[in-house]
Amino acid sequence: MRTIIEPFRIKAVEPIQMTTAAERRGILETAGYNLFRVPADAIIIDLLTDSGTGAMSADQWAAMMRGDESYAGSPSFRRFSKAVRDIFGFRHVIPTHQGRAAERILAATLCRKGHVVPNNTHFDTTRANIESAGATALDLPCIESGDLAAVHPFKGNIDLERLDDVLRGNPGNVPFTMVTITNNGGGGQPVSMKNLRAASDLSRRYGVPFYLDACRFAENAYFIQQREDGYKAMPLIDIAREMFSLADGCTMSAKKDGMANIGGFLCTNDDAVASQEEELLILTEGFPTYGGLAGRDLEAIAVGLYEALDPDYQRYRHASTGYLGQHLAAAGVPIVQPPGGHAIYVDAAFMLPHLPRRQYPGQALAIELYHHGGIRSVEIGSVMFGHRDAASGEETLAANELVRLAIPRRVYTKSHIDYVVETMVEVYAHRQNIPGVRIIEQPATLRHFSARFALVEPQAAVGADPGKSMSGGAK
Ligand code: F0G
Repeated sequence: MRTIIEPFRIKAVEPIQMTTAAERRGILETAGYNLFRVPADAIIIDLLTDSGTGAMSADQWAAMMRGDESYAGSPSFRRFSKAVRDIFGFRHVIPTHQGRAAERILAATLCRKGHVVPNNTHFDTTRANIESAGATALDLPCIESGDLAAVHPFKGNIDLERLDDVLRGNPGNVPFTMVTITNNGGGGQPVSMKNLRAASDLSRRYGVPFYLDACRFAENAYFIQQREDGYKAMPLIDIAREMFSLADGCTMSAKKDGMANIGGFLCTNDDAVASQEEELLILTEGFPTYGGLAGRDLEAIAVGLYEALDPDYQRYRHASTGYLGQHLAAAGVPIVQPPGGHAIYVDAAFMLPHLPRRQYPGQALAIELYHHGGIRSVEIGSVMFGHRDAASGEETLAANELVRLAIPRRVYTKSHIDYVVETMVEVYAHRQNIPGVRIIEQPATLRHFSARFALVEPQAAVGADPGKSMSGGAK
């Protein structure tokens, strides 16, 4: 059969609260045009993140009933660490309440002032945790990733030449190399086994431990199976094991390919490092057999890690994300190519050339997507990564203005995705009327979560077709 169906039936449903564009205009105004401030029940399709927003399976819910909430020595932890060890293969498994807690413990244990940590692209919490330990977080994405529209099978790869330079130039000051699979900051693009092996070999040659940020390891394994020579016939679990065999440890957010709503873990093969990390864990997360999680969460993850490696699930997952990307691209919407595993990234700067970067085209597009169709996305551009110097008022802008449409796991059907395509295509048709925004209130750090915006009346809209966008009057 050519049609790839959702490989599940739906047992419990959650109603979607429908809203009109007029209602959403009021909601946006109250929220200061910040989608993080919009109540989730005022959203029709929520593509803010794929993190912790997935649906659990009947097997996961059944396993949760087995959850043992003992403070120490819970059998739920035994089942959890058995699953993690079976797939990931590391000697020590340290549970945490989510990915960033694993990052914090890793960075606090291994990073010092003067250290440099290379990565293909650090996720923002990884970067923040490394920097808060006094070290420098360095992004070394491969050259191909620089051209957003170019199609390349492994745009998530780390630049091996630059990695070699960093390792050679900082002897004794690189506590670990990290590679993020898939590369979320770089468009959800995969990393090839060949690149992982080379980065691992290189790091080990310099005596530097090699770590993976494994959040979307199963999606990366599927990309390797589909795109890399020699892996077509290999089961996903064996591809995953091969990836992890190249590493000395990993951080993991089980909110992604753990198919759970909360949880994470930190792994290492180093006994001394593990005991230091467990001391920190007890200080801030919890005893090493629960690490800030309920026993039932550990059970859900133990089951979910295997479900993420189910070939039918991955086939559907990639078909669904790819379908969104292909239909948007066919309508002329500029997206980061090729479609990533968990999300489609729209190039808002390219789509809205009438908006200067200082009017935040990514934020402007995200606002209009919500206004027009009730879809919540997230700006990944100058609101998120730029900042304003408090003293001079000088604004630093990001290199790209992207809007990410992240697909929660096992939540939306094909007709939901069709609705997203239709909304985006309509927004694209009246793109020249979309107003820019300015920031009217912002905190000193992580401004994207709480800043307030105001619309800027676009000159281009004068005399343009009214009634199509926020500035164009009633719809
Ligand atoms: N690493 C990557 C690559 C991530 O995408 C995330 C989270 C984390 C680490 C941190 O994990 O949220 O469990 O603490 N990404 C989410 C997102 C928030 O929307 O992409 P966490």
